[in-house]
Amino acid sequence: MTPQTQPSVNERNFRPGTLADFIGQKQLKQTMQLMLHSAKTRQATLEHVAFFGGPGLGKTTLAAIIAHEADSRLHEIAAPSIGRPGDLASALTMLQPNDILFLDEIHALKRDSAETLYSAMEDFKVSIKLSKDSDPITMKVHPFTLIGSTTDFGLLPSPMRARFGHSFHLQPYTLAELAQIVERAADKMGFFTEEDALKNIALRSRGTPRVALRLLRRCVDVAISMDEDFIDINLVETTMPILGLDELGLEEADRQYLSALIEIYRGGPAGLGAIAANAGLDMSTARNIVEPALLLMGLIARTPRGRRVTREGHQHYQTFRANGVTVNWTRVEGADQALH
Ligand SMILES: Nc1ncnc2c1ncn2[C@@H]1O[C@H](COP(=O)(O)OP(=O)(O)OP(=O)(O)O)[C@@H](O)[C@H]1O
Ligand SMILES: [Mg+2]
Repeated sequence: MTPQTQPSVNERNFRPGTLADFIGQKQLKQTMQLMLHSAKTRQATLEHVAFFGGPGLGKTTLAAIIAHEADSRLHEIAAPSIGRPGDLASALTMLQPNDILFLDEIHALKRDSAETLYSAMEDFKVSIKLSKDSDPITMKVHPFTLIGSTTDFGLLPSPMRARFGHSFHLQPYTLAELAQIVERAADKMGFFTEEDALKNIALRSRGTPRVALRLLRRCVDVAISMDEDFIDINLVETTMPILGLDELGLEEADRQYLSALIEIYRGGPAGLGAIAANAGLDMSTARNIVEPALLLMGLIARTPRGRRVTREGHQHYQTFRANGVTVNWTRVEGADQALH
């Protein structure tokens, strides 16, 4: 089973449209308000900003909100799709004054394209060679705002980092914030919720709104199969095991990680690469999805010599090995069909 962090087509429905509607990340919102207000007052182009943070924490949502708040047009490009510096240069020269260019996964920009970007960010100019042996020609671009987004802060070259007016680190969300996000989305979908149910979904959401919203949608599936419009704690507890989630919301990939660390490395310390290889996980999944959640839940700890399991991690693993994930099918006649 793959961890539940991939974007889904339904996400657009839940995207908040303004900074005021965006829940959590208080400090980020305050700084962003200041930057937006200052740029507006000075009638200047908003400075370039970068968003760092794990999948599903709200980077794309924030880019759209900023474009809305700044009354700017948003152009979104996934950096891995930029083959040659010429592709980036032509996108840059098409921008109108004050447009926003949102470069997603900016760490994946190739070196020569990154260099093209540096001069555009700094001087609003691009230099490009039309053929290998020709002299470069320099073109002006209109003042624009770059929003860069990445899950891998460490992979950004320092000249790139230095050219952002501000870099924001998105933090995992608190349980109260996640509960609020779920409550609002349930309300929009026409479902009532109780506090315990919201808390329970929040607890299994790995600090991540995308996961919280996905869990909510699966609860909604079960509610619909039962002809209910109320999501209560029983319904949540019935739904989670169907999704393969245990009490803490761990998925198969998380358990594979814990199993490798405990069974092969006797609880550690062990290096991330070794654990990932033994757990059958690719490095990016292990680093960006599995580890942040296990650290957040206090099941593993980072030490200078590598990762080790904590006492809670050990306990949880043993309980899971004894009990597994049990589905109470009798409670939800027909819910299995609804979920597949
Ligand atoms: N603070 C928030 N308040 C309400 N909803 C949020 C918030 N942050 C994220 N979401 C919702 O979570 C989902 C995922 O957010 P988003 O796509 O912006 O994440 P991302 O950081 O761009 O992820 P990725 O790294 O995978 O591109 C969206 O449905 C979005 O509306
Ligand atoms: Mg995104």
